[in-house]
Amino acid sequence: MRILSVFGTRPEAVKMAPVVQQLAQTPGITSRVCVTAQHRQMLDQVLDLFDIQPDYDLNLMRDDQSLAELSAAIFTHLDPVIADFQPDWILAQGDTTTVAIASLLAYYRRVRFGHVEAGLRTRDKWQPFPEEINRRVAGAVADLHFAPTEWARQNLLREGVDDALIKVTGNPVIDALNLVAQQPEPPEIASLLNRLTPSSVTARNEAVSSAGRGLLREEHPRNDGVSRIGNPTYKKLILVTAHRRENFGQPLEDICEALKQLAARGNVEIVWPVHLNPNVQEPAHRLLDGVAHVTLLPPLDYLPLVHLMKRAKLILTDSGGIQEEAPAFGIPALVLREVTERPEGVAAGVLKLVGTATPRIVEEAKRLLDDPSEYEKMARASNPYGDGHAAGRIVEALLEFSR
Ligand code: UD1
Repeated sequence: MRILSVFGTRPEAVKMAPVVQQLAQTPGITSRVCVTAQHRQMLDQVLDLFDIQPDYDLNLMRDDQSLAELSAAIFTHLDPVIADFQPDWILAQGDTTTVAIASLLAYYRRVRFGHVEAGLRTRDKWQPFPEEINRRVAGAVADLHFAPTEWARQNLLREGVDDALIKVTGNPVIDALNLVAQQPEPPEIASLLNRLTPSSVTARNEAVSSAGRGLLREEHPRNDGVSRIGNPTYKKLILVTAHRRENFGQPLEDICEALKQLAARGNVEIVWPVHLNPNVQEPAHRLLDGVAHVTLLPPLDYLPLVHLMKRAKLILTDSGGIQEEAPAFGIPALVLREVTERPEGVAAGVLKLVGTATPRIVEEAKRLLDDPSEYEKMARASNPYGDGHAAGRIVEALLEFSR
C-alpha cells in the first residue's frame, strides 16, 4: 500500500508526525511525505524535532501571499507529485489550505483520501476563516474519516457520512505531546523565566525548593497520563498566542489592549511568541513593544513551546492545537474566539470562550488570577482529545479498509 502524507504548516506537522512515524514502521506500507511548506521556518523545526525528511518539498511559502495564490500554487505543484508517486491513499490532517487542495487533487486523480482530525465543525462558515470550509471540503472527499472524538463522529453522521467510514481514533496531537513533554525542558525556558523574574527572587532553584511558597510552584496535581518532568508552574506567567484570520484587524488590536491592561496590574508576566504572519506581527509590535511585563518573542519551536505551556499559570489563545494541549496539562485557557470546533475542552471545564472584546478578556483573566477557587475550578487536567494512541489506530484502519 502506497501512502502519501501531505502537510504544510507547523500544527499539521506536529499532528502528522506520529502518523508518519507509524507508517514508516508498518510492514507492507510504502510511505512518502510531501510538504507544501506553506509555512517554512515554522514547519522545518517540527520536521527536525520528529526526524522527518520529506520526500517532496514544494517550498511554496511567499511573504503575505493570498489564499488564492497559495491554493493555485498547491494545485500546480502537488499534482505532479501524485502523478509521480501514484499513491493508493493521500492522508492530510485538519483544515488548512494545504488540506483542502490536497483533498481535491486526490479526487481529481481518483486516489483515496484519508482525513485525519475529521468532523470538527463550528457550523459557521466564517469562523474560523477559511478553516471551516477547508475541513468541510476535505470531509466531502474523504474515503476514511479519522474522527478525534465521539462528538466529531456525530457531526459527520449528521452530514450523512456512512458510519462504517468513520473511525474514532483520538487526536494524534496527544501522541505528539506525550513524546515531546517527556523530553527535558530546553534551557532557553529556564533562562526566559529567570529574565522575567525580578532580581530579588531570581534563584529558580531556591524558588522550586521552597515547595509552593516561591515564585515557582506546582499549582495542581497532574494525573492525566501525560508524563511530567516535575517542573513547577510559574505562577505569574500568562502565555498568549493569536493568529486567526478572523481576528486580523480590530479584534487583534482589542486583544493587545487587553494584554496592556492586564500587564498594568504589575503582578503578571505576559509572554507572546508572535506568529510570523505580518498581519499579526505588525499590530503586536506596534501596540506592545516596550510595555512593561509584556515580552514578545519570535515564534518558539514546538519543544520549548510545550515546556513553556506547562509552566504557564494561564493561557490566552485563538489557536486550535493549544485548545487541545492545554486541557492535557490542566492549564486554564481563555479562548479568544466567538465559537470553537473543540467544545470538548469547554465541556471539561478547562477552556472558556471569551471572544476578543477587551473588557471581557480582562474581566475573565482577572477572575482567574484573583480568585483561587475560580482558578482551581478550571485547572483540571483531562484528555478529552485522545489517549496518545491515535496514530496506531489510524494506520490499523487503513490496513483494515484495504484487506
Ligand atoms: C495557517 C493556516 C491555519 C493554521 C495556521 C497555523 C490556512 C488558511 N491557515 O495560518 O489554519 O492554524 O497556519 O500556524 O491554511 N509566514 C512566515 N513564515 C512562516 C509562516 C508564515 O513568514 O514560517 C507568513 C508568510 O508571510 C505567510 C503568512 O505568514 O504568507 C501567512 O501564512 P499562511 O500559511 O497563509 O496562514 P496562517 O495565518 O499562518
